Amino acid sequence: MKTEIKKITPESIREAKKILLDGGVVGIPTETVYGLGGNAFDDGAVKKIFEVKGRPNDNPLIAHVHAEYDLSRIIDYDPPYAAALRKAFLPGPLTLVYPSTGKVSPYVSCGLNTLAVRIPAHEGAQALLKEMDIPIVAPSANLSKHVSPTSAEHVYEDFEGKIPLILDGGECVGGIESTVCDVTGEIPVILRPGLITREMIADMVGACGEYTPDLKKGEKVKSPGVLYKHYSPRCRTALFTVEETDKASSLIEQECARGTKVAVLAEKDVLQTFEKENVVFLDLGETEKEMAARLYGLLREAEKVCDFMIAIEPKKTDGVMKGVLNRLRKACVSVDIEH
Ligand code: TXA
Ligand code: MG
Repeated sequence: MKTEIKKITPESIREAKKILLDGGVVGIPTETVYGLGGNAFDDGAVKKIFEVKGRPNDNPLIAHVHAEYDLSRIIDYDPPYAAALRKAFLPGPLTLVYPSTGKVSPYVSCGLNTLAVRIPAHEGAQALLKEMDIPIVAPSANLSKHVSPTSAEHVYEDFEGKIPLILDGGECVGGIESTVCDVTGEIPVILRPGLITREMIADMVGACGEYTPDLKKGEKVKSPGVLYKHYSPRCRTALFTVEETDKASSLIEQECARGTKVAVLAEKDVLQTFEKENVVFLDLGETEKEMAARLYGLLREAEKVCDFMIAIEPKKTDGVMKGVLNRLRKACVSVDIEH
């Protein structure tokens, strides 16, 4: 199969629509990362997404709809605080998890009794969703476990020959995936951190919890995606805190002496404390937004330019950085976490 990248235009949107209505899968831009879209009502299309991505079949998908979509077509329970969150943050990088009503394909939620719904802010995504007027499920458009894509070229790298079309909507401005927030209970509970932070949600509706599964107790995981090794560049990786830069430096020295091609990924001022000779600098930048937007592109660059990426955790760990750190730590774990 030939994979085409096409800039978003009314014509390419019509082409994508045709493929999607025929049960096919299309690469689509959003403001967070690119998605691998399929018709949420079509069992075959949803199964195809899992297949081409190599995604484990216990990790559910997010349904994407346009801003004026009538949500009562797919959900019925909608607490007032969820409506308040939609009003405050959507369209935008926030996914809400509602009790499911069984209207979309059962393969979307992988046996969970909930459905995740997102209204992306990206203009091109909105235009496509409006043209479709049906929910489009879309996981991030990367092969399972690989780094998420923030450009059409990233999607091409992972799915050339496997999907017919990638809609090019430019570089993603957000850079890390949406915040996933459960709205089935008394208060919202964050299942995956992202650009809309716990503090922002709590400020808006009074309270916001954060979910961490207690796996030792054998608890069934609410958001299976949080468990996997993920976002990983295809090179060796090691992760250090800023307090451990000495350790990182001696490791770099050791590895360089053995002839390893090493890259260091860190925020700008920390990066400057390292010797540039022999190593590639992967500069995360300075602001929270910059670090979120650059992370995945740099992780993809790492696998191209080095054999070993040594990453230093950013100093700031709250707010948006919680999401950035969450991704960076998972990118650098060396083994899959069993569950
Ligand atoms: O920004 C994003 O959310 C991107 C763009 C393409 O929209 N999509 C994305 O999808 O990140 P994916 O499939 O890579 O991640 C979806 C996450 C996973 O961690 C999954 O476990 C969780 O959302 N999820 C999906 N449905 C869920 C549900 N019903 N209950 C709990 N978690 C759910
Ligand atoms: Mg993903």
